[in-house]
Formats: sequence, C-alpha cells, structure tokens
Amino acid sequence: MKSTCSAHPNLALIKYWGKSDSQLNIPASPSIGISLEAFRSTTLISTGNYENQKSDEAVGTSAASSGAKISWRVRIDGELYNPLRYADFFADTALHYGGGDIHVEVESSNNFPTAAGLASSAGGFAALAGAVDSALKLNLDQNGISALARRGSGSASRSVYGGFVQLDRGAFHAVQLHDRDFWPQLRCLIVQLRSAAKAISSRTGMETSRKSSPFYKAWIADSLLLAPEARQALAEKNLRALGPMMRRSYLRMFSTMFSCEDPFIYWEADSLLIIKTAEELRRQGVDVYETMDAGPQVKLITTEEFLPRVESALREIDMERSTTPSAVGGGLEFSR
Ligand code: PMV
Repeated sequence: MKSTCSAHPNLALIKYWGKSDSQLNIPASPSIGISLEAFRSTTLISTGNYENQKSDEAVGTSAASSGAKISWRVRIDGELYNPLRYADFFADTALHYGGGDIHVEVESSNNFPTAAGLASSAGGFAALAGAVDSALKLNLDQNGISALARRGSGSASRSVYGGFVQLDRGAFHAVQLHDRDFWPQLRCLIVQLRSAAKAISSRTGMETSRKSSPFYKAWIADSLLLAPEARQALAEKNLRALGPMMRRSYLRMFSTMFSCEDPFIYWEADSLLIIKTAEELRRQGVDVYETMDAGPQVKLITTEEFLPRVESALREIDMERSTTPSAVGGGLEFSR
C-alpha cells in the first residue's frame, strides 16, 4: 500500500511557545498561523512486512492496543532520521490502528531547508499524519489528523488546514478560522539567512524557557490576552492592527529565551538588519511587519500592494540570503 500527502508549513502570526503537557504535546499558549503556499513538504508512505528493530537501528517500533506491532523508518530528503523523534507520533497512530503487524516506510521531502526555523516540522508532520491515515486506513476526520500531527509537532496540527488557523491553549487539534481565499492580498516574504539546521530544537527551547525564564508565566498570561485581539484584527483584515500584535507576540516569545538561566539566541546579526529595515519601511508608510521563529530567518508580512517596495528595500542590503514571496496556501493534498 502506498500513499502520498503534502502540506505547507504554517507560519505563526501569534506564537505557540511552551507546553502545558509535554508528554502529549499540548500547547500552553494559543497560536494563530497562516499556511505558506510557496513551501511544501511531501510524504510518501509505503507499507510492508513488520521489521524488527534489532536488525536496524533506524527502525522504531510500537504496539497497537489490539496487540499488532507497527515498525517505521523515516527518511527526509534522503537522510535517515532518528526513529525516537517519531515515537510519540507512532504511539498515537497505534491507538487508532486496527490491522495486523505492519511496517511503515516514510520518505519525506521539502522544497526548503529542513529544521532551519522554516517550520519544516509543521508541514512534515501534517503530511505524515495525512499519509499515515490513508495508508493505514485509520479513518480519522480532519480534526483527528490534526490531533495526530500534533503529537509530532504542535505547529503541524495547524498545517492540516489551509488558510488561517488557530491552535488554542490546551487544545488537541487546531481549527480553521478563515479559508485561504479570505485575504487574497496578504503576502509573506520569507527571508532565509541560513540554511543550516538549528542547534536548539523548538521542543528543547520551549522547555528551557518554561523551566528557567522568570518571564515565562507572564508570556503565557499575556498571550491569552493577545490571541483574541489578534483574531479580531484578522477578522477585520486590519494589518495595521494585526501587525503590531504579531510583533509583540514574537518579541515577547524571544524574551523568554533571552531571560533563561542559560540564555539562547536564534538571531543572527542579519536578522536584526531585516527587523530594522521593516521598521524604516513602516516609517515611510509601508505596511510590513516581521516575525521570527526558532531560527535566524525573518518573515515579513505585507500586502500584494507593498510587496515590491519591501523586495526592493531588501535588494539594497548587502547580505547573503534568499527571499521567497508567498501567498496564503491550502491544507493537505493527497495523490496516489
Ligand atoms: O510545533 P513546533 O515544535 O514546530 O514549534 C513551533 C514553535 C514556533 O515556530 C516558534 C511558533 C509556532 O507557533 O509555530
């Protein structure tokens, strides 16, 4: 049995950072994100005979409640991945699986760098959840696929839906707020400064913030106030209201990292240069607002109208980077 599913990464305008249950991967802060059309993760699954873990350390195993055993092996862009990173995901898969012993061979590819703060885990786990649901006949609905994707990565639960999506504090799955056609003028310019994988995963970063930042509690309390306000600004398609809220969200998120016992900084000097360029553009009347995730890349949210101005301002900066404009994309796509 083979199944192919693809998904776009989902960029948070209002950030998820911190878990209320790290075992089940439940978010402690509400987030609102958009699907990025320009980037895509595609996952092909082929099933076969159950493989014993002892014969290959790239193989992971888990048992379904029926007693059936599931083994898996994951390659991303041709490279074998540590099966432990997928253990929670397949433990959850096993809860829904009703068939006999089976092996799941996963081959995933991204048209952008993996684990470099471009939300590769979001598109990757969403596409994996869709492909696993179809190949193993789990018969999950969209919310069920979102909840399964969440076990791999919180942001992946948002990637299952297209358009504008919210993942609430304490939620098991995300919900779509508006479909992809809701705000056709909205654009994201992704400024990629480094393609190397990040040294600290978002999972580790969140846990470090939760355990050792004196600002963590304030971050969570504040994000509960910010999210509904941002949701309202989004419903009104009011970028001048939403943009400053986006900036508060990502800068307050980073404040929890800068204030840890052992602080960590994902930013590069060039990231700050882009932040300052956006600031200058706003002074000139351009509607552009930046956001960042667990990596040095900067994402600039603007409109179709202002995109050329933003692109030309970036061309004037002498630095190594690649820029990709993106509209808001859709959700999962299946092909055979
Ligand atoms: O869900 P994860 O483990 O990929 O973490 C996402 C963390 C951020 O990208 C920084 C924020 C977000 O809401 O996507």
